[in-house]
Amino acid sequence: MPGSSTFLQACAREPVSTVPVWYMRQAGRYQPEYRKVREKYSLLEIVRHPEICFQVTKLPVDQLNVDAAILFSDIMVPVGPLGVKFDIKEHVGPVIESPVRSAADVDRLHLYDPNIELPYVMETIRMLANDLPVPLIGFTGGPFTLASYMIEGGPSRNYVRTKQLMWSEPAVWHTLMDKLAEMNIAYLTAQIQAGASAVQLFDSWVGHLAPEDFERYVLPAVQKMFTALRPLGVPLIYSGVITGELLPLIAQSGATVVSIDWRVPIPEARKRLGSHIAIQGNLDPVLLFAPWQELERRARAVVDAGIAGPGFIFNLGHGVVHNNPTIETATLARLTEFVHEYSRERLAQ
Ligand code: CP3
Repeated sequence: MPGSSTFLQACAREPVSTVPVWYMRQAGRYQPEYRKVREKYSLLEIVRHPEICFQVTKLPVDQLNVDAAILFSDIMVPVGPLGVKFDIKEHVGPVIESPVRSAADVDRLHLYDPNIELPYVMETIRMLANDLPVPLIGFTGGPFTLASYMIEGGPSRNYVRTKQLMWSEPAVWHTLMDKLAEMNIAYLTAQIQAGASAVQLFDSWVGHLAPEDFERYVLPAVQKMFTALRPLGVPLIYSGVITGELLPLIAQSGATVVSIDWRVPIPEARKRLGSHIAIQGNLDPVLLFAPWQELERRARAVVDAGIAGPGFIFNLGHGVVHNNPTIETATLARLTEFVHEYSRERLAQ
């Protein structure tokens, strides 16, 4: 990656000439080219083939002119070598063969060397780091979100089994959190050593927890991860949805960048997070289905609020709606161009 990067500058809360933009799930079903690849290969097959994974990761960078690439993978990829068999079912999400529900199940999870068990991920990252014109974001799943898939056996509405384990067998829960933290430290370290310029912890469903439970049952594992990764010197991004009320606690996680969703106004998020953390977000992803005028008006408001403080990355409050292929690549490209141009004017004033 040559020269300076607005994405890395914003992560470091340094001044930028334009607001950096990327989108969660910028690679995916809305792209005809992606759908074509998916006709031949499953999602996990793409991940296991560096040549194909490299192309899929690059697609949105070329098409949308975004300021960062996100590795094409899934949050579940690193749990496979722990001994958890899973599949990614179309229009469902991750599905686990034998859910993890007892102390014995947790004891059986074995930590591993990601360079040996997931060599194709590191190979893809090395290829991308050599080729991309923008930084590459590596990622993994957050401890609560991974635990929820492992315990429930698939997507969940209320996380009953997960919370039950958390409250009724806290020692088992903490052992699980600790193993997931160790796994993620090794996995993200390997990604950074292979060339990832930043890493994001997708703890998507953590907003289902009360602040008290987040603080007691999840935050220590997140802190452990970020404390271990901090010396590697890359931005550490934490993301989840419906996390507005958790932001004061997330501010203590050691994250250097925090993603916020559209339910929290940016000035309020800044207040809750404090001045040491950069913000990423927070356009409602469903606005991509709105008339352009409304989308532009709302994107302008996000940029205005974002640049009122240091350290802002334009993104969606969650991912591009991945099960609806009616979003046009052209809309995302136009939005990126709008944010670049509008923010360049505003920042030059
Ligand atoms: O550009 C990118 O961001 C793509 C890389 C990426 C994928 N998954 C590929 C994918 C990333 C960053 C993820 C993270 C991920 N996976 C999360 C965290 C982010 C979030 O959405 O909150 C979660 C919770 C998962 C688990 C998962 N994988 C779900 C819920 C689904 C959707 C199920 C469906 O089919 O509707 C998946 C499948 C998945 N992962 C797709 C993509 C592009 C859907 C398209 C496909 O099946 O080819």
